[in-house]
Amino acid sequence: MNRLVPVILAALAGAAALAATAYEPNSEPLPVAADWKARAGAWFESADAEARKTQMRGITRAMRQPCKYCHTPDFSGYTDKLLVSQQMMALTAEHGVPCGDCHAGKNQLTDLGVTSQAMWTIAREKKVFCEECHVKGERFGKLTPAGERYKPEWEKRRPSLGVPAPAVATPPAEKAPAPTP
Ligand code: HEC
Ligand code: HEC
Ligand code: HEC
Repeated sequence: MNRLVPVILAALAGAAALAATAYEPNSEPLPVAADWKARAGAWFESADAEARKTQMRGITRAMRQPCKYCHTPDFSGYTDKLLVSQQMMALTAEHGVPCGDCHAGKNQLTDLGVTSQAMWTIAREKKVFCEECHVKGERFGKLTPAGERYKPEWEKRRPSLGVPAPAVATPPAEKAPAPTP
């Protein structure tokens, strides 16, 4: 019974997961052709350079990585994290889920991040981006028709992709029927 307590707490906390899981930061960008610069650009709340720097600091906090993780030291160019970061900024802007909901510090993912890691694998296989199966602006809480169709497959695959099925609250044990004399 007590095993359910953390599950309930996690549900209450919503996206803000309580535990973090380590990951290898070797993710390749998804093989999807798009104007990633434009889609990432939608993440910025302002065109002002100072405001953009301030907003960028939110990334360094969520990921516990310095600016030079993605920018060259003189800020004239980018490291090999450019494309994957643009895709991340795009999904954050389009689905309304900030970096810190999935990234919990250096090489650490929240529970939502762990599910998204499995999703990243699925999206790579299908060569699609998240909006194929998730309605934009709904924080991944609403599936498109393609997402609904994928659900049975996801339920089958999730354990092998490292995402255990959610704990189902077990109903209180039935009282054994009184023995008939
Ligand atoms: C995880 C990767 C990452 C980190 C860490 C990061 N950035 Fe960025 N930054 C990007 C990406 C990607 C863009 C957008 C590139 C594009 O599509 O034009 C960007 C854009 C910017 C821009 C806007 C440039 C423009 O053309 O308007 C500024 C300013 C900036 N970053 C400053 C910083 C500063 C300062 C830090 C550290 C506090 C930082 N960034 C940390 C990935 C990162
Ligand atoms: C919905 C969840 C989610 C959101 C939101 C999210 N990320 Fe990610 N991010 C992931 C997952 C999952 C990976 C892949 C981890 C792996 O398997 O390597 C990842 C990987 C990355 C990587 C490459 C791996 C690394 O650590 O170098 C970068 C860079 C990154 N994210 C930056 C960002 C930035 C910046 C934001 C916010 C603008 C962001 N992410 C928002 C889930 C998310
Ligand atoms: C082929 C379809 C498909 C694609 C592509 C896909 N998803 Fe999903 N996603 C699903 C399904 C199905 C679920 C399970 C929904 C459910 O159980 O109701 C799900 C669940 C999720 C959840 C958990 C939502 C929650 O509230 O627990 C997150 C987060 C998520 N996906 C993120 C992503 C991200 C990020 C991408 C893009 C990299 C992505 N998904 C791409 C089908 C997809």
